[in-house]
Amino acid sequence: MDLVALMAEKRRAIEAALSRYLPDESHRLTKAMRYSLFAGGKRLRPILSLLSYEAVGGNNPEEIMPVACSLELVHTFTLIHDDLPSMDDDDFRRGKPSSHKTFGEGMAVLAGDALMIDGMGLMARSTASSRLVKRAISEFARTLGSAGVTMGQADDLYGEGRNPKHLRHIHLRKTALFIAFSVKAGALIGGANEELLNKLYRAGVLAGMGFQVCDDIMDVICSREELGKTPGKDEDSLKLTYPAVYGLERSRRISQSYADRSVEILTSLGPEWERLAALTDYLVRRRR
Ligand code: IPE
Ligand code: IPE
Ligand code: MG
Ligand code: MG
Ligand code: MG
Repeated sequence: MDLVALMAEKRRAIEAALSRYLPDESHRLTKAMRYSLFAGGKRLRPILSLLSYEAVGGNNPEEIMPVACSLELVHTFTLIHDDLPSMDDDDFRRGKPSSHKTFGEGMAVLAGDALMIDGMGLMARSTASSRLVKRAISEFARTLGSAGVTMGQADDLYGEGRNPKHLRHIHLRKTALFIAFSVKAGALIGGANEELLNKLYRAGVLAGMGFQVCDDIMDVICSREELGKTPGKDEDSLKLTYPAVYGLERSRRISQSYADRSVEILTSLGPEWERLAALTDYLVRRRR
């Protein structure tokens, strides 16, 4: 299977759908939203949800595209706020000056707010059964809220020290839960049973942990051109990361081991999960 071609094909479909769902640039707020959204993200979360939807036999874009694009809107909100001077204070994102550098801090906060709120609303536009859509929205809110990404980001702000348990807690919440939900959401909308959903969620958590360990590693070894963001920031700001706690070599082994365990679960589900397994493995081999 050609993973690069598969990702490019899915990315094209997502870009087109995103552009349809987003308001035009006639207002400074919507201009700021589009600036960050169309700055060239990898679209991993929507692609994960699409592959998982298709693996359970789903084939209706009206059911899955609002869900897939909702993930990307909300993800982009987390990036804009993550870069703010009061958070990671990053000037560069997706290969361009970050939102607050271009539009000022107030507008960056508001562009993030609008992407999050429009993103949640967009999920409700899925034409899948209202029982499934309601459950997806409810689980997405739980993924993002006070026990999820927001708590992870709050702990990341004060993430100094070298405690491995605290490190896992932060990475699980700020990143892995969102990836896990993305994997699960596609199958959920496609009508999968509980047993399958639980296995997918588990595979998604492992993939998400591997993904964030890889992000920590790339901050150390990759260039600004490769990353589209400023490298070396984690060490400068004394962040609690895998390389800081375990060193680079051990971090590499840890991230690969997370991916391997995820792939093992997905492979056990049958050949229709092969594409998702290949993408999971890519999550820890990427250089951007
Ligand atoms: C960056 O996510 C934030 C993390 C959780 C590490 P991505 O690496 O998916 O960023 P984009 O969407 O491709 O810009
Ligand atoms: C980001 O973690 C997690 C979220 C945006 C929720 P990082 O702070 O490590 O992400 P980057 O490196 O800035 O993309
Ligand atoms: Mg951060
Ligand atoms: Mg950051
Ligand atoms: Mg990072």
